[in-house]
Amino acid sequence: MMTSNARRVMWLVAVACCALSPLIVAKTDEPHSGQAPYDRTCKVCHGAEGKGSGAPALVPFAMDVEELLIRVREGGGEMPPISENRVSDDEVKQIAAYLASLTPPADRADAPPAR
Ligand code: HEC
Repeated sequence: MMTSNARRVMWLVAVACCALSPLIVAKTDEPHSGQAPYDRTCKVCHGAEGKGSGAPALVPFAMDVEELLIRVREGGGEMPPISENRVSDDEVKQIAAYLASLTPPADRADAPPAR
């Protein structure tokens, strides 16, 4: 029947909007590619978005990739070393970029002059 089909379509549109709107409101761009490896490997200690929980906050982030890689591979203090089986070098780079993306430009190590 015409009416019930139309209703069904309206309903689907409404559901789709509701499902998507939090994403649209929260963030218009795609999640950063470093977020998945961060959430998988570091979040348990360093908290969501590097805000710290147990382990220190990582944002503002002002390390370069090499320093971060050494820190991750060797650990230090209370942080255990994390092997390549758990997070690859590329993923650590993505994590560095992700943490930098959460850091206000003025606080970044490589603070680009105009951005
Ligand atoms: C098992 C918990 C744990 C995990 C998992 C973990 N960390 Fe840590 N991390 C710590 C602790 C605790 C410290 C503080 C060490 C200290 O100074 O005693 C730390 C310190 C650090 C520091 C130095 C912070 C500073 O201010 O000096 C960096 C950078 C860091 N972690 C990055 C990472 C990254 C990136 C990951 C994921 C690849 C990760 N950590 C995963 C527990 C963890």
